[in-house]
Amino acid sequence: MPVLKREQTRDVGDPSGLPKLPVPPLQQTLDMYLKCMSHLIPEEQFKKTKVIVEKFKAPGGNGECLQKKLLERSEHKANWVYDYWLEDMYLSNRLALPVNSSPVMVFPKQNFTCQSDTLRFAAHLISGVLEYKSLIDGRALPVDYARGQLAGTPLCMDQYNKVFTSYRLPGPKTDTLVAQKSTVMPEPEHIIVACKNQFFVLDVVINFRRLNEKDLYTQLERIRKMADIEEERLPPIGLLTSDGRTQWAEARSVLIKDSTNRDSLDMIERCLCLVCLDEPSGTELTDTNRALLMLHGGGMDKNGGNRWYDKPMQFVIGADGCCGVVCEHSPFEGIVLVQCSEYLLRYMRGSPSKLVRAASMSELPAPRRLRWKCSPDIQAFLTASADKLQGLVKNLDMNVNKFTGYGKEFIKKQKMSPDAYIQVALQFTFYRCHGRLVPTYESASIRRFQEGRVDNIRSSTPEALAFVKAMANSSKITDAEKMELLWTAIKAQTNYTILAITGMAIDNHLLGLREIAKELKLEKPELFSDTTYATSIHFILSTSQVPTTEEMFCCYGPVVPNGYGACYNPQTDHIIFCVSSFRDSAETSSDLFVKTLEGCLKEMQDLCLKCNSEAKPTGSTEKMDGNTKVMKNGSKS
Ligand code: COA
Repeated sequence: MPVLKREQTRDVGDPSGLPKLPVPPLQQTLDMYLKCMSHLIPEEQFKKTKVIVEKFKAPGGNGECLQKKLLERSEHKANWVYDYWLEDMYLSNRLALPVNSSPVMVFPKQNFTCQSDTLRFAAHLISGVLEYKSLIDGRALPVDYARGQLAGTPLCMDQYNKVFTSYRLPGPKTDTLVAQKSTVMPEPEHIIVACKNQFFVLDVVINFRRLNEKDLYTQLERIRKMADIEEERLPPIGLLTSDGRTQWAEARSVLIKDSTNRDSLDMIERCLCLVCLDEPSGTELTDTNRALLMLHGGGMDKNGGNRWYDKPMQFVIGADGCCGVVCEHSPFEGIVLVQCSEYLLRYMRGSPSKLVRAASMSELPAPRRLRWKCSPDIQAFLTASADKLQGLVKNLDMNVNKFTGYGKEFIKKQKMSPDAYIQVALQFTFYRCHGRLVPTYESASIRRFQEGRVDNIRSSTPEALAFVKAMANSSKITDAEKMELLWTAIKAQTNYTILAITGMAIDNHLLGLREIAKELKLEKPELFSDTTYATSIHFILSTSQVPTTEEMFCCYGPVVPNGYGACYNPQTDHIIFCVSSFRDSAETSSDLFVKTLEGCLKEMQDLCLKCNSEAKPTGSTEKMDGNTKVMKNGSKS
């Protein structure tokens, strides 16, 4: 069996010239921590936490010592938080990847009329992938620059190098993010094609020549035919990767006892990406249903076994036109996923398929089916994994909604940050649905720094609470007062955003202090065993802006059992919201959240219009799937 050449994915040192992520001052972080939690927990608990914080930051106390150690760490690491963050955010998380961790990008629905349409699309897309990969390898991708707040600074491009080279290896306690080591002689490159739960090796470089689109089409046709041979079908081993990480690690340790299985795993682990040729789902392809199918494949009965979740990029091409990408999140952020997806969609639009009708005549070695030896133990693991996935399918409550009342242009005209405004609207919505605010996560990019990933903007600010309370108490407070409170809430949100993107937010810092104490084998500081800390990192509302310039949208699941995932894509005159929650939580409902959000956005617009006559409303509110249309005056169209 070929020996895997691997290294930990992270190189120390960054030739980009970007600054290092700073370690925020201890006092600043602790003050902010108290500010963020003061209004989210009972008063008695807050008093207790205040005492704990005081003790932690006292001269000669734990805080001072740990801060010193963190500062030392920052001197010899390119990014002092990266390893801690990766472990905490992803690798040590034992939950199944689908729904709980892997975001997806949903492409526009395709109109395939026959199988060859699907394969032609797949060949075209793979050509685009190879083109994109050669740009990454040749360091020819243009450097990204920050937009929006503090626009213009170059961003770290490190994450791109991991798109086609990483693999998340399951482990019993924690996973490992591994990457192929570049060798002097490049290894042959291949893609894994999943079709009818079977896995095939599609070599994309043969005899030092990259396959052209015609060749790729020929090979895909051969794969399709091989997948159709019922007698050769093997069990849907990909299902194992959809299980909890510890269960998958356990199953894998049984699987690798057999050399055939080891070889097959090796081919998957070293591939560039997966292309999943899905069977028709038999479902109406609304936006919400396409999002669901992308997130979990519809379970074992549909395409849930036609996946390999450990691999960062899985391009899904459904025979019914349901297409998109499933992404293993640990190597890179959604923004990189957007860049890659947009490149591919533009490539496919801009370079018409180079296929002629006849298949390629060149002599190509046949693609290979990966073989599996399934012991009864593996069969038992498969049954358990299928059940678990079915549970996820049943439990996920998703609502994709295009709010067309207005978009970021209207908000900009109010001289407000669209992102801050949307975040305040999400707080308003949560308050209206649940009568309280909760710890909220908003991803903030810290790619201005070497090896930067994200930190958290805690959007449930005291200022947001003051605004939403005023809105709920509508008769007693004047519009001018509410407008003032809206401004204050937006200002607080914008200030927190700036703090986060400049490396001064509190979540990474607190994580660093906690982890360095563990590393030094010190007793866990009381700050981190306090209930308030546990509450502070239980993100009932997990939000993220993922804007696109092509017609597509990103979505993901909630991060806690009683929470919501809320991904939004602000456009000039509309905003796409993808809201997820779990059906087995009695507290949440994605439909209710979305309906309430529409009302809150409308109320905020009305307030702005009343208080600022300059802005002009446009458009109407419409269900993205086109089912319901509600005009601005509330009447059904
Ligand atoms: N008046 C008028 N216009 C304003 C404004 C104001 N007061 N404040 C901002 N704007 C404009 C900006 O100039 C920008 O204009 P552009 O569309 O021409 O670029 C636009 O409004 C958007 O700015 P804003 O809404 O403030 O947000 P942002 O683009 O700065 O985004 C974050 C904020 C936090 C989302 C961003 O910094 C970030 O970190 N993004 C990454 C998130 C991420 O990682 N997602 C994936 C997770 S997997």
